[in-house]
Amino acid sequence: MSDPSQRRIAILGGTGNVGRGLALRWANAGHAIMIGSRSVDKAAQAATQINAAVSRKAVVPSTYRDAATAGQIVVLTVPYAAQRATVEEVRDLLEGKILIDTTVPLIPPKVARVQLPAGGSAVAAIQEMLGPSVRVVSAFQNVPAHLLLDLEHDIDCDVLVCGDDVAARETVLELIAAIGLRGLHAGSIANSAATEALTSVLISINARYKVPGAGIRITGL
Ligand SMILES: NC(=O)c1ccc[n+]([C@@H]2O[C@H](COP(=O)([O-])OP(=O)(O)OC[C@H]3O[C@@H](n4cnc5c(N)ncnc54)[C@H](OP(=O)(O)O)[C@@H]3O)[C@@H](O)[C@H]2O)c1
Repeated sequence: MSDPSQRRIAILGGTGNVGRGLALRWANAGHAIMIGSRSVDKAAQAATQINAAVSRKAVVPSTYRDAATAGQIVVLTVPYAAQRATVEEVRDLLEGKILIDTTVPLIPPKVARVQLPAGGSAVAAIQEMLGPSVRVVSAFQNVPAHLLLDLEHDIDCDVLVCGDDVAARETVLELIAAIGLRGLHAGSIANSAATEALTSVLISINARYKVPGAGIRITGL
């Protein structure tokens, strides 16, 4: 893949909390970002804000399909209810690419309770749907979006990265390091069930201890 310090990253759902946070951090790290949205006007507003924050034209607004066409790496940051339909919309454009899926299968209102879908993992289901020609990597499930959006502060947590292709995981670890976080190989895409479930555990901890963003750290390394 081309210059690893300057990737073209498409973020589908890039107007949302996680999507804007990742766009901001990667734009700040020197990458080129396409924000994909159902509304190009909405994407343009997000792009304008982020470009102002990083003082360069790093982000361009786009439709989902144009973003997925231009991106070397495609990132999915839409709600669980929209995950499959969004991937279906760009499926033919993902061949040979890495798809980073941040989805947590939260089903409101009981978001503090683990509710994994039949088959075990929302992200593993997408790898199953797409087949091996798209390398799906699961990441960022346990990073609170509001921390990604706050460029003034470092984020005190690890990012568990699951995927069947080790080289794809390695690429995602580089992108995580670029925004000052530590990514860790956390095994195959099936293990995404654990990281998706862990989010509800963290939401429970947030409520019990009255904190906005509990995270995880792996020790012993
Ligand atoms: N929030 C967190 O702290 C956090 C942390 C880790 C992982 N996650 C996961 O990351 C994903 C994104 O979370 P988020 O909090 O960033 O979500 P969000 O802000 O609610 O939405 C993200 C974007 O998804 C797009 N979208 C596409 N189809 C949609 C639909 N049917 N309904 C609503 N929005 C739709 C919207 O963009 P357009 O309107 O521009 O199309 C929206 O801006 C979720 O799967 C979540 O589980 C969240």
